[in-house]
Amino acid sequence: MEKVRLEIDGKLVEAEEGMTLLQAARKIGIDIPTICYDEKMAPYGACRLCMVEIGRNNKTRLVASCVYPVEDKLVVKTESERVIKTRKMILELLLSRCQSGPIETLAKKYGLEKSRFPGEDTGCVLCGLCVRYCGEIKKANAIGFMGRGVERGVAFLPEIAPKVCLSCRECFTLCPGGKVVTESLDGTWFPPLGWQKKV
Ligand code: FES
Repeated sequence: MEKVRLEIDGKLVEAEEGMTLLQAARKIGIDIPTICYDEKMAPYGACRLCMVEIGRNNKTRLVASCVYPVEDKLVVKTESERVIKTRKMILELLLSRCQSGPIETLAKKYGLEKSRFPGEDTGCVLCGLCVRYCGEIKKANAIGFMGRGVERGVAFLPEIAPKVCLSCRECFTLCPGGKVVTESLDGTWFPPLGWQKKV
């Protein structure tokens, strides 16, 4: 496999072609916050929390490091002023949908008490980890996205979930907002579509 050399936060990194910036950064111990990324699954690029600033020929731009591939001679900054400002705004958006778990922890780390954006604490930030895990890893597709816009959420599929979820429950630990767990513990295991309005 071809090798690529790039610079991340001033450190030279040798990475394999096809790796993402996130993987290359983690390889040298640089921590970039993520919510929708899980190495077991294909990158999804939904939360945008893993944004980094990349530069080439005096031009810079922000990219999602979990989906952006390494490039030779690329200069990457994971904590530039622009990155931090953007990350805080993204965290505020995520906070408007979920105020617990890793999102709450990250918000505190970045000095955010609450979000300026209106929203309801649904516990679900649409990271898709539960949906993708069930589809990609378990091949069960027992949970899926539903609704549009602010009504968008995830729901167990009543025709599949009762047959497969009770003996699995593996998506519970993936949910950053604990939504899947909450739904299962309060006795509404396989709620009909539209369950998120009841929160
Ligand atoms: S972790 Fe990269 S977009 Fe969510």
